[in-house]
Amino acid sequence: MKEQIRIMDLEKVLDVITGGRVIGSRDAAGKNPFVVTKSSNIPGKAITETPGLVVGDPDHPIKKIAVMMTLTESAIELAGASGVDAMVAHHPVADAASSGGVLLRTYLELYNLAVLELHEAFHGLHPGIAYLHGHDASFADIKYSNIPGNILFVGKPVQEVKTLGDMLSRLDTFMDLETEVRLLENEKQIRNCENIEETTVCTRGIILEGNPENSVNKVMHIFPHTGFTPVHMERALSQHPGVDTVLATISRVFPDHGLVKKAKQLGLNFVVGNSHALEIMENGLPLARAISMLLPDLEVVIFKERMTSIPINSFGGSKIQAYARLMAEKYLVK
Ligand SMILES: [Fe+2]
Ligand SMILES: [Fe+2]
Repeated sequence: MKEQIRIMDLEKVLDVITGGRVIGSRDAAGKNPFVVTKSSNIPGKAITETPGLVVGDPDHPIKKIAVMMTLTESAIELAGASGVDAMVAHHPVADAASSGGVLLRTYLELYNLAVLELHEAFHGLHPGIAYLHGHDASFADIKYSNIPGNILFVGKPVQEVKTLGDMLSRLDTFMDLETEVRLLENEKQIRNCENIEETTVCTRGIILEGNPENSVNKVMHIFPHTGFTPVHMERALSQHPGVDTVLATISRVFPDHGLVKKAKQLGLNFVVGNSHALEIMENGLPLARAISMLLPDLEVVIFKERMTSIPINSFGGSKIQAYARLMAEKYLVK
């Protein structure tokens, strides 16, 4: 007979994966360096990450779990309706923000769902993001120029990556972009709308400085949202001679940004790789796989988001369009 798996076993597995970064109890939370409060200093909007169990009973048996990037009301509804017992979210969970504006606890208890989170405690455990982009990240600094979180990787390209073009085609292949493009093309046809945009397709990797045939010998991998500046780029280049390519991932910059101008000025290629929307591939799937390997009797599913942009006049069918117009005219626009 299979042994029953409980929430506490899942907590233990997350602790094993992270080498002991999960909080043991609420009391210990204050001493755990991975319990981090994130705040932009917008009143009332700070959130504290607590790696491990957020809502749920540790003794509760589980058969099926869902791994996802961000907990949302859609995720909760999908989990409830598809027999999921526990959800593991990478991004920190917050009351109401993660649960459609209502209380996490009452909503999740109604559906008999547990939620665990694992964010900063999961970061830095594997070199996958560099690997997917085709370099070895042999140098890593997680607080470049003494700015915590300002991450800089420098690496040599893997054997198959000789040019900027190789780098992007490697990424497209790993991300299975072809499937996403086909899905979008089909959706456009089905919805009879040419102007639908989808995140993974419209944020696919791109060269902002340089040509596909330019060779890649050493990569400076940056994450623009973490505070990397043109001054840092110049400094990093002097510290890592031979760098010829700047790679920006997770967040990106657009062609007129100072980082791109600086790269051009320094004679460097500038490539934009995966956006944050693909972290489910970079971090989500490896996390799900690790859990599945450690708890092979557990059914593991991935919750994948697919965000689309649809012009207002093409959204929904004619009935709902008439409904929206009626509500807006009669009650909202006075
Ligand atoms: Fe992350
Ligand atoms: Fe993330």
